[in-house]
Amino acid sequence: MDPQALQQEALAAVAAASTLTELDDARVEYLGRKSSLKLALRDVRDRESGMALNAVREAVEAAVASRQAELERAELDRSIAEDRVDVTLPGKRHPRGHSHLVTQVRREVEDIFLGMGYEVVDGREVETTRYLFDALNMGPNHITRSPLHTFYLGEDTVLRSETSPSQIHTMEAKPPPVFMVSLGRCYRRDTPDATHYPIFHQVEGLAVDRGITLADLKGTLRLLLRQLFGADREAKFITNFFPFTEPSLEVLVSCFQCDGAGCPMCRHSGWIEIGGSGMVDPNVLRFVGYDPDEVSGFAFGWGLERIAILRHGLPDIRDLWANDLRFLGQF
Ligand code: DAH
Repeated sequence: MDPQALQQEALAAVAAASTLTELDDARVEYLGRKSSLKLALRDVRDRESGMALNAVREAVEAAVASRQAELERAELDRSIAEDRVDVTLPGKRHPRGHSHLVTQVRREVEDIFLGMGYEVVDGREVETTRYLFDALNMGPNHITRSPLHTFYLGEDTVLRSETSPSQIHTMEAKPPPVFMVSLGRCYRRDTPDATHYPIFHQVEGLAVDRGITLADLKGTLRLLLRQLFGADREAKFITNFFPFTEPSLEVLVSCFQCDGAGCPMCRHSGWIEIGGSGMVDPNVLRFVGYDPDEVSGFAFGWGLERIAILRHGLPDIRDLWANDLRFLGQF
């Protein structure tokens, strides 16, 4: 056998290996136990040919080692290039829900009043006629006592038609001063249409202390309006009547659609009603054992649906009950 020819052949095979597997095959063929080189080495009888064959072995081993390093390096470069992750690419956005528009208004109103030091009080959806009517200065023949207006669960048990009884529960539970809001569901025997639904939500507010005046009422409600609707809405107060306040005031804001110029939305008045308010009637204070000569107060009751509708320009209150997913998230 010709050691020079064998070495050339082996080096060519090693150089031609383009993968680690091919290289291993070449290594087995030229350096393995059954390779012609190993067999020849085993049969060596003289020093001269032994040295020649060992030189070939070393040369081939060195070539395999360096080719292996080359191929491993190339494999590493390839995997770095191919498996690269660009962490700056934008991710997939998952659709996220948000709370119902009425819940949003509710939480916002609670936050506004908590910020002014008011407490948020839970009311009761099931009330007695004593709290819904008697305590609120409604005479025995007041129209909302009729089962045509209010849902009766028993002779004296009703679903509340307004949140105002929460005023009474709060005042009965402690002496003045009282600064509270109470938000929740109310029920009325109304036929559903664009502006009515038999279930709706109100925010009730009450402030009772020494020396509370109409100026406090106006200042507080103007601030509430500004927080809810922004500084551009003008507010005004006109007289009204509620049995539990004297004087009573209706709160109006300049129309969202026409900014006061007059349009169908505001029935060409330029103003939109937001809700009722007034100075707490002395009879109500007396009912809970407060002395109207010592303390005075203001109260208000506004509809949360109304606020949501005005803010979002919804055409129909029933939209808020339609379970339209667009009202619950960005889908
Ligand atoms: N309870 C009234 C209603 O449902 C709203 C209201 C008006 C509440 C004046 C008040 C108030 O506390 O002072 O129509």
